[in-house]
Amino acid sequence: MYNEKLHLSFKGGSTVTIKWFVDNVLRWIFLFVLLWDAYALIFNKGIPNIRTAPAIRKRIIALLKAEYARHSGPEPFTIVDMGSGNGLFTRDIARALPEARIIGLEISKTALLWANGFKKLYRLKNIDYVSQDFFSYHLGHANAVVMYLTIFQMESMGKKLHEELKPGTLVTSNRFKLGDGWEPDDIISVKTLYPHQKTFHVYRQK
Ligand SMILES: C[S@@+](CC[C@H](N)C(=O)[O-])C[C@H]1O[C@@H](n2cnc3c(N)ncnc32)[C@H](O)[C@@H]1O
Repeated sequence: MYNEKLHLSFKGGSTVTIKWFVDNVLRWIFLFVLLWDAYALIFNKGIPNIRTAPAIRKRIIALLKAEYARHSGPEPFTIVDMGSGNGLFTRDIARALPEARIIGLEISKTALLWANGFKKLYRLKNIDYVSQDFFSYHLGHANAVVMYLTIFQMESMGKKLHEELKPGTLVTSNRFKLGDGWEPDDIISVKTLYPHQKTFHVYRQK
């Protein structure tokens, strides 16, 4: 609690009470930061930062675990989230697969700030966030790629994955199908409370 009688003194002798400062300055700064953050997260340069529904995250993580169990070789099993947003999905994956390496590629600085903050808070050492346009990140080292993007990105994403992924790499795409001729091995329906998230697609690079 602040004390109404406390004063802030300025050069020249003028003073304001702490209460006045909180009511007239701090409150508005707080509101502005909150609204700016909401704007950045929702509109995000035309690409909404919407998270994958919990039930879909759970199903994809089960697939990743099965894939991890089949993995052999000296390199860590590497999962890339194309557009990791605030990092919720990467954190779930990191907890479920502590021996795997998770890479979150994200273009929004606000989202990255949140993701890195939570990573630190929860002491998750097996996630790395990369501040980069995912179209300029080479995916040759990935064992699995997960994404939840917009329909407008799926054609160029399909082309990129065809060109860069090593054979056998697992790909999941929430809601939208990959373009460039990718045919899903499976289309999995999941009951969720999210009106637009009912299916995800599973692919494997030939
Ligand atoms: C719908 S969110 C998905 C968040 C998280 N992957 C999930 O499934 O819960 C898509 C994210 O992709 C990011 N994104 C869109 N285009 C991108 C690009 N070209 N490079 C990097 N990130 C991008 C957006 O900023 C947004 O945070």
